Amino acid sequence: MTEFAARYGSWAVVTGASEGTGRAFARALAAKGIASILVARREAPLAALADEIRAEFGIDCVHATIDLAAPDAIDRIAEATGDREVGLFISNAGADPNGARFLDRDIGVWLDLIRRNDLTMLGCVHHFARPMRDRGRGGILLVNSGACYGGSRFMAAYSASKAFTLTFAEGLWDELREHGVDVLTLVMGMTDTPALRALLGEKDLPVPDGIARPEDVAALGLERLSHGPVLNWGLEDEAPAFGLTSAADRRKRAIAIGAASARVFGD
Ligand SMILES: NC(=O)c1ccc[n+]([C@@H]2O[C@H](COP(=O)([O-])OP(=O)(O)OC[C@H]3O[C@@H](n4cnc5c(N)ncnc54)[C@H](OP(=O)(O)O)[C@@H]3O)[C@@H](O)[C@H]2O)c1
Repeated sequence: MTEFAARYGSWAVVTGASEGTGRAFARALAAKGIASILVARREAPLAALADEIRAEFGIDCVHATIDLAAPDAIDRIAEATGDREVGLFISNAGADPNGARFLDRDIGVWLDLIRRNDLTMLGCVHHFARPMRDRGRGGILLVNSGACYGGSRFMAAYSASKAFTLTFAEGLWDELREHGVDVLTLVMGMTDTPALRALLGEKDLPVPDGIARPEDVAALGLERLSHGPVLNWGLEDEAPAFGLTSAADRRKRAIAIGAASARVFGD
């Protein structure tokens, strides 16, 4: 068993696993000896990836077709994992396929986005992190976007959903670090995923040169899992001079606010 598998095994749940970074996470985990429960909406790519992982790595793999925006998504994910010991939860699905202003889409579109990115994520973390806390080991990795640091046109609901993830991850990291459970929000920049290609293609925009590869992003996220709460892809931001986005500054801030809250709440 690898050191990583001893800490985060034996099963991981990966949402949005049918392509892009989710697929890359599942493959990287299999290489480290961790079995995955793959979640997304499309059956065919999930089943193909599960077969690929079993054949290539000799690692168990199951999949479940679940819409993360559906009200019963949390229950269905819990049902799909059953009594498997989940030591790592990766919330990966969460891009905005709209590229539209808030009022130019029906409200249902944005409610679905918030349900998928925030409510289902929150419910899954609650479900999986409790047993991790009891076991004194585990990991929660919440994929994020640079949009979490501020709102902007064309991304109002999306950036708000990601800001929720950012501050939730920081608070949870501070609550769980004394229990041996690692929490990291991985703030990605532009990454060459099928979803990004589809969005750019719809708008007749080229794929920019030099953007990140899903495999590299997933590998770094797993490597830095125990250095939460924040990791900014592509930034040397453990140095404290980076202000708002600095991982080092945000860690210090989370600890300082946590200490102040503990005084108020008597912890
Ligand atoms: N790509 C980028 O440039 C970029 C930049 C910054 C941040 N990010 C973040 O990186 C993560 C991955 O992004 P991505 O570009 O790969 O696109 P994505 O749409 O977030 O991820 C695609 C995966 O999510 C699944 N998915 C999407 N909606 C779902 C739903 N309602 N229920 C279940 N599964 C769902 C898709 O499978 P199905 O279609 O089979 O459901 C697919 O497996 C996201 O959190 C995104 O915010 C991406």
